Amino acid sequence: MSERKNLLLMPGDGIGPEVMAQAKRVLDWLQKTGRADFAITEELVGGASIDAHGVPLTEAALAHALAADAVLFGSVGGPKWDTVPFDIRPEAALLKLRKEMGVFANLRPAKVFDALVDASSLKPELVRGLDIMIVRELIGGIYFGEPRGIETLPDGSKRGVNTEVYTTGEIERVGRVAFELARKRQNRVCSVEKANVMESGLLWRQVMTALHAAEYPDVQLSHMYADNCAMQLAKNPRQFDVIVTGNLFGDILSDLAAMLTGSLGLLPSATLGAVEPSGRRAGFYEPIHGSAPDIAGKGLANPLAQILSLALMLRYSFGQGANAALIEQAVENVLAKAGRTPDIAMPGRAKISTSEMGDALLAELEAL
Ligand code: NAI
Ligand code: MG
Repeated sequence: MSERKNLLLMPGDGIGPEVMAQAKRVLDWLQKTGRADFAITEELVGGASIDAHGVPLTEAALAHALAADAVLFGSVGGPKWDTVPFDIRPEAALLKLRKEMGVFANLRPAKVFDALVDASSLKPELVRGLDIMIVRELIGGIYFGEPRGIETLPDGSKRGVNTEVYTTGEIERVGRVAFELARKRQNRVCSVEKANVMESGLLWRQVMTALHAAEYPDVQLSHMYADNCAMQLAKNPRQFDVIVTGNLFGDILSDLAAMLTGSLGLLPSATLGAVEPSGRRAGFYEPIHGSAPDIAGKGLANPLAQILSLALMLRYSFGQGANAALIEQAVENVLAKAGRTPDIAMPGRAKISTSEMGDALLAELEAL
């Protein structure tokens, strides 16, 4: 095993700590069996940090995240903190972490497990074997562009403004992530924008075309307008391998793709920064679900999205593809035969709790 890597866990609020506890069991198992060797530390974040320190992210916790080789994050937020001012809400911690860590490429796999093919919003024959990777640019575009704000016009009415901005560099760096991923998958990238009506989209298309010709001619590149992409995702999702798009379209299309797979409790994500000259690359991993206050503290949460986020971390931050594949296989096996948490319940299968799902997964890992 090479040099010891630092891993920071940030469980957060609501079901975050419950699902993180199960991910920790998987980590412990990897360490105990000599498959991994991490120095693991933990920090409060979100509402938990507000309660303890008055802010959703302390300077110390931020410094810790910046120094870590990867961050495994749970989820933040909940009704208890909904009345806190916007800039010190639990969610502000997440935005600050992403921005400070410089993680710009949000990877959202949408994969349909065989055992859950009936849970999809589409017919089984349309989604069986579905395996898409959506790469969303996360720290640019219309959510961050200037000018922005709400202004009052001379006649007393108001005008809300947001600005879509993308630079060549921002498009190239997320484009590279998509092409590199495609090379390890089916070698196809579909670049999505609205080049027909937006200059930022036109530039996106031009930059992706040039990047492809210069550095990735071996990968198949296609372009699609975002509205058509939404239709195609609902009509024939299996046509896609890697989709790369900006922040706004990626937000919407990745949620659409998520629903094709059936369960929020099974969907992980990874967010990566640039590869630094030292070879280091910031990595932030979290399930796509939130803190689920409606089921928090009841042992009802599905821990598999958190555990699959851990698998993505092993693959993308630590080059441990074999460990990642082992966890993913164990998840497949559990879904095929073990009991189910209520979110993916099915007739004839026992309903099990968060920790029982952890038990089932560990038993599978032991058996593999
Ligand atoms: P949510 O994802 O927390 O919950 C939506 C629905 O899915 C709920 O019915 C919940 O019980 C269910 N669900 C979510 N994860 C589940 C799991 N692992 N197992 C079983 N069922 C699960 O989204 P919602 O309700 O919109 O937001 C709740 C809170 O979470 C809010 O404070 C919101 O701001 C925050 N949030 C935080 C995110 C983050 O930390 N990245 C992302 C999304 C929401
Ligand atoms: Mg969203």
